[in-house]
Amino acid sequence: MIHLLGTKDLDKQTVIRILDTAEEMSQVASRSVPRLPALRGKTIVNLFYEDSTRTRTSFEIAAKMLSADVVNFSAKGSSVSKGESLKDTAQTLAAMGADAIVMRHSASGAAQTLAENGWVDAQVVNAGDGTHEHPTQALLDAFTIRRRVFGPNSTGKALDGLRVAIVGDVLHSRVARSNIWLLTALGVRVTLVGPATFIPNGIAGFPVDCSFNFDEMIDSEPDAVMMLRVQSERIESSFFPNSREYARHWGLSDDRAARLPKSCLIMHPGPMNRGLEISSSAADSVTSTIREQVANGISVRMAVLFLLLSGAQRISQ
Ligand code: CP
Repeated sequence: MIHLLGTKDLDKQTVIRILDTAEEMSQVASRSVPRLPALRGKTIVNLFYEDSTRTRTSFEIAAKMLSADVVNFSAKGSSVSKGESLKDTAQTLAAMGADAIVMRHSASGAAQTLAENGWVDAQVVNAGDGTHEHPTQALLDAFTIRRRVFGPNSTGKALDGLRVAIVGDVLHSRVARSNIWLLTALGVRVTLVGPATFIPNGIAGFPVDCSFNFDEMIDSEPDAVMMLRVQSERIESSFFPNSREYARHWGLSDDRAARLPKSCLIMHPGPMNRGLEISSSAADSVTSTIREQVANGISVRMAVLFLLLSGAQRISQ
């Protein structure tokens, strides 16, 4: 059984193959009938224990564009509220014929637990597990960078030599972790930027540089700045004095955005806290890729579902 649980174990060639497949998938949207028959007869369950706008919607659109049947399951309003376990919930859905389970869960390692304990005879795609990984977000981020820097005819290309700053609440960010592994696999030099309280312990074990000065990072002219959401729902103690102080030191303000190189991409996985980690005009500027990231998420998730479920190629353990 093949799953997509994270980016840590994806090698460069595998990532490039997924991005290349996503380029092919992006052509489908411009057809008069934007559908491929590739997954006809397959059933994909979106099993979401945490809220989502972008990920759940784009997995649903991607599956439908591949002609799969889609079932959306939200833990809210389900028998989870009566105490039903993850194992029983997943096995119930698998018993109804799920070929793949796309799962978001608040517990780090939940997707791996589901996949590796043999609880279900279905392929598992991690749509975000706690603070651990969000592999399809990192894939769509890399796809967006490659398209903006090299254009849509960049098939076969990696991102060697580019420099990306990941800024803010790294500690609680599964997006940051998945991007660290995936971007470095593609040859990107990644620098984590933020207050010491938001940089994880054991950062020496990550293949990244670290900076505690956002202004110095901007002066070093990165190719992209990836702003992270301050994850208030996961923050139990005081990691910074107050919102105004955070925005002053770590936010992409209008002034900082104006000092970025003209070609520097402004990225954010969403949802954004406008005025905290990013100003509204930076988020809406011409160098912002935020809405493109969302649109590209459909092509990337089509590629992942296609590669996992069509029997075409193996992409991950
Ligand atoms: N980027 C992201 O995962 O957004 P959602 O929480 O809306 O899915």
